[in-house]
Amino acid sequence: MEKVKKTVFSGIQPTGTITLGNYLGALRNWIPLQDEYDCIYCIVDLHSITIRQEPAQLRKNAMSLLALYLASGISPEKSTVFVQSHVPAHAELAWVLDTMCYIGELNRMTQFKDKSAKHADNLNMGLMNYPVLMAADILLYGTDLVPIGKDQTQHLELARNLAERFNNRYSPTFVVPEGFIPKLGAKIMSLQNPLAKMSKSDENVNGFISMLDDDETIRRKLRRAVTDSGMEVRFAEDKPAISNLLTIYSLCSGVSVADAEKQFDGLGYGVFKDAVADAVISALAPIRQRQAELLEDKQYLTDILRQGAERAESIASKTVAKVYRKIGFLPRG
Ligand code: TYM
Repeated sequence: MEKVKKTVFSGIQPTGTITLGNYLGALRNWIPLQDEYDCIYCIVDLHSITIRQEPAQLRKNAMSLLALYLASGISPEKSTVFVQSHVPAHAELAWVLDTMCYIGELNRMTQFKDKSAKHADNLNMGLMNYPVLMAADILLYGTDLVPIGKDQTQHLELARNLAERFNNRYSPTFVVPEGFIPKLGAKIMSLQNPLAKMSKSDENVNGFISMLDDDETIRRKLRRAVTDSGMEVRFAEDKPAISNLLTIYSLCSGVSVADAEKQFDGLGYGVFKDAVADAVISALAPIRQRQAELLEDKQYLTDILRQGAERAESIASKTVAKVYRKIGFLPRG
């Protein structure tokens, strides 16, 4: 049967508090898609344990992330919102796809290389398998579109390859998904090193803005942000720090990069950084306040997750049943 609406799937790991990079590169772009697509937004806790997590903190982070999804504008009426570990089909399909994915393919993954260097004391199989689980997440729901930041494009490519491999080996089963990567903001850089991605695991807390940072912290981090030589506020390859701040300013204020360059012409970096801080604060403060209110009502949040898991499971378990049948596993009868 033809689908009426196309399907969107995306997820964020509940590790620490998500950053302005996660928001501008992914979460924010999920909101408008809800009107046109069947959207499925997941809290990918199975992914997060590839790095050691403290159990109580992991539970807290998952709830906090759910509240951030909702506070940012994800509507549980329009979209399916759920926690990955509530739907066993993710782990089941990941196993099947594992048997069709070559070690060489996973060894080549940039994020695997980066993370293994950073967590040399915990080089677990999950860290390597991670992109296969992500492929399972996407393929379970017949996903057409995956809104992600630039750092996830290599993983998405693997999901596409695995979908095609399965379809060729058995028969057409999976939709081959497309990425949805924003033109501006697909890779927000560290405020302390404009050549490195803004990341919540950065040891230098001044490198990132957390979605829950208070107004003063946001302003302080932006004032301390490194800049480039010269004084001009201009978007250019030789000005990676200012280009990053212009990107953040444009996305948070709605002013185009070209207009922002004119607006700050001759005003210098200090004035510009303060304006970036104002724009970021007005984007994040209402979300932070709404998130705190939502966290007051745990029952409401738990109900959303239960309904979300039921909806997700009804689709995902059918996909796994179909896959098992095609592979040649005996039906349970
Ligand atoms: P995660 O949790 O690292 O990041 C969540 C989303 O935020 C984007 N992102 C950024 N975008 C712009 N600038 C940045 N500095 C920045 N940092 C992160 C990421 O690209 C991502 O879209 N493997 C995924 C989670 C995942 C997933 C999925 C995503 C698991 N299964 C299925 C889509 C579909 C991850 O670790 O994202």
